[in-house]
Amino acid sequence: MSKASLLARLDTETRRKFIASLSEQERAYLPHNWAFWARPAQLAPKGAWETWLILAGRGFGKTRSGAEWVREKVKEGCSRIAIVAATAADARDVMVEGESGIAAVCWEHDVTHEGEGMGRPKYEPSKRRLTWANGAQAILYSAEEPDRLRGPQHDAAWADEICAWQYGRDTWDMLQFGLRLGELPQCCLTTTPKPMALLRDVMLDAGTVVTGGSTYDNAANLAPGFMRAIAKKYEGTRLGRQELHAEILDDMQGALWQREWFDKGRRAPGSIVELVRVVVAVDPTGSRGGDATGIVVAGKGVDGRAYVLADYSCNLSPSGWGRRAIDAYRRYDADRVVAETNFGGEMVEATIRTVDVSVPYKAVHASRGKVVRAEPIAALYEQGRVSHVGKLDELEDQCCLMAANGFEGEGSPDRVDALVWALTELMVESVDDDENWTMKQAAPGIFNWVRKGVRAQDETPTVRHDGPLVPRHYTDISTLVDDMIRSTTR
Ligand SMILES: Nc1ncnc2c1ncn2[C@@H]1O[C@H](COP(=O)(O)OP(=O)(O)OP(=O)(O)O)[C@@H](O)[C@H]1O
Ligand SMILES: [Mg+2]
Repeated sequence: MSKASLLARLDTETRRKFIASLSEQERAYLPHNWAFWARPAQLAPKGAWETWLILAGRGFGKTRSGAEWVREKVKEGCSRIAIVAATAADARDVMVEGESGIAAVCWEHDVTHEGEGMGRPKYEPSKRRLTWANGAQAILYSAEEPDRLRGPQHDAAWADEICAWQYGRDTWDMLQFGLRLGELPQCCLTTTPKPMALLRDVMLDAGTVVTGGSTYDNAANLAPGFMRAIAKKYEGTRLGRQELHAEILDDMQGALWQREWFDKGRRAPGSIVELVRVVVAVDPTGSRGGDATGIVVAGKGVDGRAYVLADYSCNLSPSGWGRRAIDAYRRYDADRVVAETNFGGEMVEATIRTVDVSVPYKAVHASRGKVVRAEPIAALYEQGRVSHVGKLDELEDQCCLMAANGFEGEGSPDRVDALVWALTELMVESVDDDENWTMKQAAPGIFNWVRKGVRAQDETPTVRHDGPLVPRHYTDISTLVDDMIRSTTR
């Protein structure tokens, strides 16, 4: 409970006495005195921690706590503070100019602990910078551009909603590298949780302390309409445990993958056996905006195990993901690109061929549900037959959200889809491999993998290097994929 709430519980007479005991200055400061208004979980713990994680429900007062902490750090003498949000707009609209952002919580008569006037900071949007009267500065960053954090050094940092960060791991790592000014550079991290590897790693770090609570802890300061709406939406639901009560939902019913399987199998880059095959699997997005195109590189080792080498998934236009897929194909010296063609059909092949006309290409078609396809692949992990090379956070997070009744995350599981195609291609014995498939030259320099005995209906596609991509009709291999799935689920 905050000191303000404690005071409010006392009788009128005592409260009057308290107010009367304050000097005029103290009385003016009271509305701006965060130590008075904050609940204990909103105040920085004592001690030499490196990261203070406020893990709390929606509307708990996370942003307010972070903004007040920044104000306190300036009072303590910090002068180069990093402010990091999911997007540049969030940094500006929430962390700086939001109702509980830095501009709202700072007070024009603020002074540092040394007594120097600091006031309210001046905000220069074009420089993405806040400057207080004592010279202290806070610089705004976004997790969409982790590279901007490469180089600058800071003596404190506040990061908001890390679970919504696009390049979470990169941004977090860069931020940590740059946190090296002063005696004890500290970071305050305010977020509602998600079951994510990055968050889990931050929590397990020896330098991290965690406070937090539920939306209800701040009910007195939230608009009744907001409380009603959010409680109606989430209370009693599984997601409510996360959004209102800040629980990390790692115990999903019917989850296909368990996090520990990744950790058990994990190998360091450069420490794996020789690979006999490498494929790049592509799952193009079916929608405009939002969803990513899954691109996963995996190989099969001489030991018969699968090695997932890289996740090249991206949110790019077709020519963008086509280039990335071919980059991955070349970098890992892959022998084939496998692409799902449910959306866009032959457009997918044309997109890839536009970048590299000669890449061996195999189209696969999903005629069964995602879960049916994913189950046998998850079983390979359970059997310890798959290793991830290095950390593949977003891919692993998505896998952990695949449940028996579908994907429980937001959007669609593009990374998992690509992973499933890659490992099906490499590890599903009955079609593995060239006994059943043969590479046919479709045109000079163009190769397609075709099931033996099946004639490609159009063996001489024209490939366009520019202009609109024209969908063409090739062999429908959906029934072949059905066979493949059947053989794995038998
Ligand atoms: N201890 C407090 N005393 C008074 N008001 C508070 C306190 N903590 C938070 N608030 C107010 O509650 C409201 C919600 O706080 P805030 O925006 O910080 O929550 P949040 O957890 O960041 O929410 P969201 O999940 O929407 O990001 C704001 O108006 C904030 O100023
Ligand atoms: Mg917030």
